[in-house]
Amino acid sequence: MSRVLVTGSAGRLGRSVVVSLAQAGHEVIGVDTAPGSPREAAAVLPADLTDLGEAHSVIARFRPDAVVHLAAIAVPFSRSEATTFRVNTQLAFNVCAASTALGVGKLIIASSPTVIGYGAPGGWTPAYLPLDEDHPAEPWNAYNLSKLVAEQTMRSFARACPTTRMAAFRPCFVVAPEEWEGAPTQSGHTIAERLDRPEIGGVSLFNYLDARDAGDFVDTLLARLPLLETNGEVFFAGAADALAREPLAELLPAAMPGTEGFADRLTGTAPAFSSAKAERLLGWTAKRSWRTELS
Ligand SMILES: NC(=O)c1ccc[n+]([C@@H]2O[C@H](COP(=O)([O-])OP(=O)(O)OC[C@H]3O[C@@H](n4cnc5c(N)ncnc54)[C@H](O)[C@@H]3O)[C@@H](O)[C@H]2O)c1
Repeated sequence: MSRVLVTGSAGRLGRSVVVSLAQAGHEVIGVDTAPGSPREAAAVLPADLTDLGEAHSVIARFRPDAVVHLAAIAVPFSRSEATTFRVNTQLAFNVCAASTALGVGKLIIASSPTVIGYGAPGGWTPAYLPLDEDHPAEPWNAYNLSKLVAEQTMRSFARACPTTRMAAFRPCFVVAPEEWEGAPTQSGHTIAERLDRPEIGGVSLFNYLDARDAGDFVDTLLARLPLLETNGEVFFAGAADALAREPLAELLPAAMPGTEGFADRLTGTAPAFSSAKAERLLGWTAKRSWRTELS
């Protein structure tokens, strides 16, 4: 059993990560400014990790084997742009700085697929499909810029401190278990609405990931981190299919003008975001699909 400290443990993703890690046999410590961390956590501590002293003191107090950093302002434009940038970049820096200074062995941070730049008001088209980790990142708002800075922060600490094994992951649109039962997703729409109205999910290329699969991803990545050749890898993690009733070869050109000529490779149920790197380096694939989970 190892002790894992999860930041943002009360959040949509954090709750499932805490439960998955606890079920996998880890002792989980939750840290969040908000209440609501699951009872599967062995201990929960409220702490504002934008304060470097607080980040140091929670890690020094629990001495975890691993830190999974999920805490963030997670919804673009939900706060002022300046606040979103400041909070998310400061959180990433503080968690990396405190983890490395205190000798934590493993560190995973949450980034976002939005770093590649879809949804930009001036238009955006992919350079190729399916999208993988080599695709250029073209952030255009404080949220996706802060996530790219968080990745670079992690990579910078990975170079400076090779004894702490690190990686970032870009989870696709996370669907919590209650959202399969009809609760609103983070966009405010239900999953059924997203399926019935392709214009909603089209801007983010119909990506999604069951939150429990995200938890399994984190558990797998923690186990494999010491074996990865490069310290500071970045991974997409998405469902094995698209959140769409029709093949993306048909839906994408209408939802995202400019993808004609690229999208024809996305036949059948194929998603736009590839998790092939996670499969190759970690042996991970998502197990759950909207086809089996939607009530
Ligand atoms: N949900 C998604 O679809 C999705 C997709 C891509 C990336 N992500 C990333 O995954 C992570 C988790 O996302 P989520 O959907 O669970 O978000 P969420 O908003 O549900 O949870 C984030 C949690 O972080 C906590 N937090 C915020 N500021 C804090 C601080 N200063 N100190 C301590 N805790 C703080 C919040 O209280 C909240 O409980 C975020 O980093 C987000 O950017 C999420």
